[in-house]
Amino acid sequence: MCGIFGFTTENAKNAGEVLIDGLSSLEYRGYDSAGIFTPESGAVKAVGPASHLKRKMPAGFFGRSGIAHLRWATHGEPTEENAHPHTDCEGEVWLVHNGIVENFKELKTKLAAAGHTFASQTDTEIIAHLVEEHLKTEPDFAKAAIAAINEIRGTYGIAMQYRADPSKIVVARMGSPVVIGIGEHERFVASDPSPILRHTRDVVYLEDGEVAILTPESHEIYKLHGAPVERAAERIEWDAAAAQRGGYEHFMLKEIMEEADAVRNTSLGRLIEKEGMVKLGGLESVEEKLKQVKRIILVACGTASYAALAGEYMIEEHARIPVEVDIASEFRYRTPVINDDTAVVAVSQSGETLDTLEAIREGKRRGALTLGIVNAVGSTIARETDAGVYLHAGPEISVASTKAYVSQLTALALFTLFLGRQRGVSIEEGRVIAEALKALPERIEEIYKRTKDIQRIAKKYADARDFLFIGRKYNLATAFEGALKLKETSYVHAEGCGAGEMKHGHLAMIDEHFPTVAIAPSDSVYEKTASNIQEIRTRKGPVIAIATDGNEEIKELANDVMYIPKTIDMLTPILAVVPLHLFAYYFARQKGINVDRPRNLAKSVTVE
Ligand code: M6R
Repeated sequence: MCGIFGFTTENAKNAGEVLIDGLSSLEYRGYDSAGIFTPESGAVKAVGPASHLKRKMPAGFFGRSGIAHLRWATHGEPTEENAHPHTDCEGEVWLVHNGIVENFKELKTKLAAAGHTFASQTDTEIIAHLVEEHLKTEPDFAKAAIAAINEIRGTYGIAMQYRADPSKIVVARMGSPVVIGIGEHERFVASDPSPILRHTRDVVYLEDGEVAILTPESHEIYKLHGAPVERAAERIEWDAAAAQRGGYEHFMLKEIMEEADAVRNTSLGRLIEKEGMVKLGGLESVEEKLKQVKRIILVACGTASYAALAGEYMIEEHARIPVEVDIASEFRYRTPVINDDTAVVAVSQSGETLDTLEAIREGKRRGALTLGIVNAVGSTIARETDAGVYLHAGPEISVASTKAYVSQLTALALFTLFLGRQRGVSIEEGRVIAEALKALPERIEEIYKRTKDIQRIAKKYADARDFLFIGRKYNLATAFEGALKLKETSYVHAEGCGAGEMKHGHLAMIDEHFPTVAIAPSDSVYEKTASNIQEIRTRKGPVIAIATDGNEEIKELANDVMYIPKTIDMLTPILAVVPLHLFAYYFARQKGINVDRPRNLAKSVTVE
């Protein structure tokens, strides 16, 4: 959580503008408060997003270097005094931090005993005081900063400056992402490449346990204990403009409208329809090992875990390998049985979700093969897994994950075909799956043409305070995802439930004020779901059905219907979720909620 950004340059720049511009690309990481510092002009902080900070900025906020921060509060309320950058007693050392200092109480007690006074309730502030303490005996700023960093335990992505050495930025990484941008006579640092891209495409990713010293002309990387690290720069090919809203009112709507492209890009160049095969370059190095795998554990959080649930059904039905889905935060602590014929597969948009990352590390420690199905290229999960499949969905900015979900489902379908063909799935069966995958983007584009109907239905149910979502087999995941999307964007009560499970409890809630969204495509379990719809109608519950084109009967059963085109059973969740994402968006908009920034949430959860 939290976003950091900084730069040091020899070219004259309006530092205030550069820093606020950088923060605006990072707003998905937090927006409780924002702040900037330059050694030449000082610090400005504000509660709320970067736009609030911008309004407070004095004219002519100059500087050839500076650091900036967007906060998602963990220790201390989201107030101005707790906003970063934080400083020492003398206002000489300034820093921004993404993460948590676990031993901050013990360090604070020690520093207080040495005479330090604190201006905030944050864990971060103690780092500035620690550096101040080291500067008493070590006049070199970088050395003092590194000595201080060596004393802290926890997670961090840090950028730090010293007024007396203004062109230098010391950065460090442990568990929170840090990217260094390499420009001409300038260097940048950020939590992800998006704010760097408008300045340079050449980047270096810092690894855990590394620090770097940035000046306009250099970036020296060291291990925390001092050994130098050589790392070549990588060139980023994706476009900064892709991260902008592109004319849509919200990123969420833009990203739903990109779902067809996201699915297209996930499959691009990977499907060999004639042979009923897929080519997954990222798995080549582990192809032989995958043939030996006897069990797969998919680890993920939130929306990604629902994609994993549908993935479990796909792999078990078609590739016949036992699969379990583990919520990553549970997996870490429940002592799972893992051995060297287990593959632990992380599904994650950001590739930075801490619980998912730790689940992968746990799998690795216990000898499993680890794989990542990840969107963010170069993210920590992508780098720490043995191999993987990138989603290629493009940057997802809205906190509510939409296009990454359909991409995750697509990647899991590709993975299923890959594993299935290794284990006896015939060319014919492979062809059916490959051709259905190929056709999906156009099918999604068909659904976009029906947006007005979905908007009308969202309006009709505007006053509902509770929703039940039901689905079976592949669309149990869709029920969970539909409910989560409505909760996080509209703050209404919504529950996902197996359609067959409904009778064991949920049905008691149903009355004429409690609508149900029933995901009922024409698949192998349609008849069962149709009877569940009937049971709800008997109890006067209104029903909105998601059904396959051509199903006229459902109009008699449900009060409202959102139609989706036909596809094979295992791919129905990719189509069925599109109207639900649109429904959640339009439902939330009626309430005037800024869907891109749901309260209390952040895009990437890099804390436990
Ligand atoms: O980046 P990840 O895919 O690992 O994120 C996992 C969840 O935090 C994420 O899907 C979350 O549930 C979304 N806000 C849901 O829309």
